[in-house]
Amino acid sequence: MMDGLTRDPFREDVIKGLGQRQKAIPSRWLYDEKGSKLFDEITELPEYYPTRTELKILGDRAGEMADAIGPEAVIVEYGAGSLLKVRILLDALERPAAFVPVDISASHLEAAADELTADYPDLTIKPIASDFMASNLGESLPEAAGRRAGFFPGSTVGNLLDAEIHRFLSNARADLGDGACFIIGIDQPKPPRILVPAYDDAQGVTAAFNKNLLTRMNRELDANFDLDAFAHEARWNESDSRIEMHLCSLKPQTVRVAGESFDFQDGETIHTENSRKIALDRFAGMAEKAGWSLSRHWTDEKGLFAVMLLEAD
Ligand code: TRP
Repeated sequence: MMDGLTRDPFREDVIKGLGQRQKAIPSRWLYDEKGSKLFDEITELPEYYPTRTELKILGDRAGEMADAIGPEAVIVEYGAGSLLKVRILLDALERPAAFVPVDISASHLEAAADELTADYPDLTIKPIASDFMASNLGESLPEAAGRRAGFFPGSTVGNLLDAEIHRFLSNARADLGDGACFIIGIDQPKPPRILVPAYDDAQGVTAAFNKNLLTRMNRELDANFDLDAFAHEARWNESDSRIEMHLCSLKPQTVRVAGESFDFQDGETIHTENSRKIALDRFAGMAEKAGWSLSRHWTDEKGLFAVMLLEAD
């Protein structure tokens, strides 16, 4: 129980977010235990092309990526998760010296790092339990003969706002230092007939993932959301080149959350996530402002997804 002296960041974000004209809750609250499980299921859905497309690009081109990074490198993975993708890179690299997975979920991270240790006995593995947006990782990075390479797959950069992308890339530039490179996977703009189903699948897994936020508020913030009175919605916002996830109220209603009341009109939504599709030239410009140059990229044959290589200026 919160005692009134202890800050509860979930409660603060929800109360603030539901008080806005466009109601919105930061997407990190989607990922409780159930949410993380549902998210793993999303990555395997037939409509959700990004994960398998990026895995294919990594599988086909890891040799070229490894050549670009060079021998005895230190790999830093941001928002590391299950560590599946980095194995493809590690397997292609020449004598990688160290791997530093950064992830906010300490327990998930420990388990994944232990599994990796068993498979890569010669690799120094140094997990850091932290928000990948935090700065000053630099001092914690192991020394090695090779260079430092950031790794940020999954198009997670597309879930950030412009200012957050700038802060993230600038921090990474400072932490990884001169001579570093950075491999980033980013989903590409494409027609809404492909994009929308990827975020609103036929089996309803993405809907369950989004609505799990209502369940979480009911449980953790003593809220009384009626799950049948809200619908999952995936919207393509063309001018901002992003898919938006919303929870749409199906009728006029009042909901109580953490002792406060919030009114919903029929059709009013809570905005819960952005997934931006950032084209190459656009991303090159953003990287440039944070001290990186886009030096090359790899894509699939349909150009659905791009893995970009940045070099520190
Ligand atoms: N970063 C990925 C994407 O934007 C994964 C992701 C984040 C996602 N939030 C999501 C996928 C919500 C589906 C629904 O696609």
